[in-house]
Amino acid sequence: MSKEPGSIDRREFLGSAMLAGAGAAALSASAQAQAPSSAPREQQRPLPLSGGNFAPLRAEVDVRDCVVEGKIPSDLSGGFYATGPDPQYPLAKGNILFDGEGHVRIFRIRDGRVDYRTRYARTERYVAQDKARRSLMPMYRNPSLDDPSVKGLSRSTANTHVINHKNMILALKEDSPPTAMDLNTLETIDPVFTFDGQLPRTQPFTAHPKVCSQTGNIVAFGYEAKGFGSDVVAVFEIDKQGKKVWGTEIKVPYVGLLHDFAVTENHIIFFVIPLAIDYEQMKRGGIHWSWDKDRKTYFGFFRRYGDGKDLKWIEGPARSGTHTMGAFEDKGRIYLDTEITAGNPFPFMPNKDGSPPDLAASTSYIHRLSANLNGRNKGYSIEKMYPLIAPLPRQDDRYNTMPYRYGFMACPDPNEPDRAKAGACYARVDNQTRTFKLWNAGNRVSLAEPVFAPKSPTAREGEGYLMGVAYHLDQGLRSDLVILDAEHLEEGPIATVRLPVQASPQVHGWWVREDQYPV
Ligand SMILES: [Fe+2]
Repeated sequence: MSKEPGSIDRREFLGSAMLAGAGAAALSASAQAQAPSSAPREQQRPLPLSGGNFAPLRAEVDVRDCVVEGKIPSDLSGGFYATGPDPQYPLAKGNILFDGEGHVRIFRIRDGRVDYRTRYARTERYVAQDKARRSLMPMYRNPSLDDPSVKGLSRSTANTHVINHKNMILALKEDSPPTAMDLNTLETIDPVFTFDGQLPRTQPFTAHPKVCSQTGNIVAFGYEAKGFGSDVVAVFEIDKQGKKVWGTEIKVPYVGLLHDFAVTENHIIFFVIPLAIDYEQMKRGGIHWSWDKDRKTYFGFFRRYGDGKDLKWIEGPARSGTHTMGAFEDKGRIYLDTEITAGNPFPFMPNKDGSPPDLAASTSYIHRLSANLNGRNKGYSIEKMYPLIAPLPRQDDRYNTMPYRYGFMACPDPNEPDRAKAGACYARVDNQTRTFKLWNAGNRVSLAEPVFAPKSPTAREGEGYLMGVAYHLDQGLRSDLVILDAEHLEEGPIATVRLPVQASPQVHGWWVREDQYPV
């Protein structure tokens, strides 16, 4: 198989990442299958060949009373939800996997039993395409190529993350409002959910809202808030009853991918990275972003419940931080724990200078960024925390906005230097001792991002279960849900829920406790 300069062939992709059982790294692995080559870059990427967490499925599935090996813990009751891109129609040439329609799933766990269900989010885009029986919005976040019949419709794919709110699941895509789905049935309730008109129908809603540890409010933002390419970011807070209780607007130094943010007790944190809007690329029919290594990265923060006028931006060298593990403030400093890459985190997104993907520079490690809350900062401090390659770190979500100790993630085994041999692991990190525990699932599986479920609403931090989906690479991607004691990962799964089929694709997942369901 010949390779064009800068391309990555499928065997290399499979060998280096997916078959390595790189777990969460399968995100970039699947992307690498579509890696760009040369100009016009965005026209030459092959269609997705992805496996593992991101392999297309297209079938909506119901499995009642799943087969369980081991025993579901009696204090584990609730629902594990997730969404991921599952293209409704084949992706157009040059498009990227991030543009597949959101396929939402639930593992409903109670009384020792597990029921599994998946449904596509019936977004306005999905419904229009279903009616036309073809793709009508063929390029990721580039509406200029849309079919005229969909003008004015939401472009949401609802394929990135889910969160529960008022007996609904909100399926999220950062360029659009949420899609509301029934908590139990996953039937779509509202394809463009605006919190009863409190948010503009045209205002995006992040895929990574935080739930306030004190109030239970949803803290969220929408970037490009004033229209396509806008440098305005709307930041707001919604209480448990669905009422907007605070909102303000800020401006970013430049329009870039603002995928995640962080919230502390008193502050909002943003990290602006050089995946910047690229109008020229879009004119050529390409995607929204390219990596501009000549741009700086900005760490910014301002007070919650304020007007945003105290916003401070602290400049740093070009690097990316895409997913927050946790954030807090202590003794006059503010801290953000996030995964950091030295360069473009998504090799399937073009580099603005036309250079080929740099796999080393796209490798994520957890870092701690910090700055003085008051006084002058010449730059932000940055410290590598763990030798774990972990682009999708999580925490006990009850600690979204307060000091925390534990994090959870999928990563390749750090004790095996050869990535082709490294098994896929789930890890628990202890930020107090800077140690970690691992469960190694072997190198024939791909592990999706895990989610933490506390043993009870009042359980201490990290006391509970870690759950995640294992896609078996040697079984046609047939999948299991593995359930581990989050404090003793190294002991392996307590229970394994065996699906008879491949699980739907997953980017992010969310745990809904039993007490959060309607009675
Ligand atoms: Fe994300």
